[in-house]
Amino acid sequence: MLDTKTLKKDFSLFQNEEQKDLIYLDNSATSQTPDVVAEAETEYYRAYRANVNRGLYPLSQRASKAYDEARAKVAKFINADDREIIFTGGATDSSNLLMYSLENSGVFQEGDEIITTMMEHHSVLVPLQELAKRKKLRLRIIPMLAEKELDYNEAEKFITKKTKLVACIGVSNVTGTINNMKLLSDLARKVGAYSLIDATQAAGHIPVDVKEIGCDFLFFSGHKMCGPTGIGVLYGKKEILDKLTPGNFGGGMVEEVFEEEASYALTPAKFEAGTPNIAGAIGLGVACEYLEKIGVGNIENHIQEVTKYALEELSKVDGVKIYSQTNPEKNIGVISFLIEGAHPHDTSEILARFGVATRAGHHCAQPLVKSMGVYAVTRASMYFYNSKEDVDGLIAGIGEVKKVFE
Ligand code: ALA
Repeated sequence: MLDTKTLKKDFSLFQNEEQKDLIYLDNSATSQTPDVVAEAETEYYRAYRANVNRGLYPLSQRASKAYDEARAKVAKFINADDREIIFTGGATDSSNLLMYSLENSGVFQEGDEIITTMMEHHSVLVPLQELAKRKKLRLRIIPMLAEKELDYNEAEKFITKKTKLVACIGVSNVTGTINNMKLLSDLARKVGAYSLIDATQAAGHIPVDVKEIGCDFLFFSGHKMCGPTGIGVLYGKKEILDKLTPGNFGGGMVEEVFEEEASYALTPAKFEAGTPNIAGAIGLGVACEYLEKIGVGNIENHIQEVTKYALEELSKVDGVKIYSQTNPEKNIGVISFLIEGAHPHDTSEILARFGVATRAGHHCAQPLVKSMGVYAVTRASMYFYNSKEDVDGLIAGIGEVKKVFE
């Protein structure tokens, strides 16, 4: 287990007198920011703020160098090449950018099929729905089994020669299930389809190695892995990115512009139209280094230990029903639950009175939550700074909720 008391010292928020009793279990919504990340962002604004790749003066050159170094740090974090990393505004932005790029590149023809899963977050599902409408494609959804696993047998049947894209969430933000990203990427490759992994809930929680997964594209947000908000990453294999038409157009992504047309810069610049989130990218690079120092494998083991404990303790509480993956080896820190007779929003609100921060709702995955026969669940989501004592606090809070509804 990690030494959470020492780790929490890296975060001013946890040291703040007002938050000293906070039990933060809303990490799937957003994680906390270690001071090194906040300081790196602040340093950019205070010491060398300038636009990147545009100015010839020292300030701009320093900013450009820091931006390039951030790209290299992120690339190393997922075992990619620097030129395979596109900075975006976040996971949703990455998803939309990719869908438009593929569409603009002529990948889809009427009647083609695109495949996703029942566990999908709206950031993938809704752009796919819109893409299907625009291009008259068939969107097929791989179902989920009662054990909160994807039905991989069905997946094999769904992914055929008609498939052009297979998009899958790496870790569900509702069930915590770690999906078989490699298997789905392999199935896509076998039929000549592109594979896309939404690693938003996976990056910084379990080791993510794009070469090992073998996917064509992968994206994630910075803010669920100690990075700033408003920054994300779209990874793509260099040879594929080189061939794609961009999804956003404007300044910074062009080579030469004429009155009627333009040619585009090389990968990855051609995908980064406009002034990027420079401070965010620098902060994200530092977040990657910070997590690597702890060790992502150590983080994974720690979260799984705490998850195991939470699942055991929750199973002892009468009237609590779990809606997540109950095998702790397959769940990376997400526990969705309902308390009999209590609305999930009331549960979350009463837990907050006792210092326990959770989220209630559909968690931007309405089809998934509805498929479990409910409209909303309360969710406790863990990260590496959470301890078994935090779980004890959650269980005590649940006891208080139950008293209110007795
Ligand atoms: N997608 C985020 C969540 O799961 C916001 O809460």
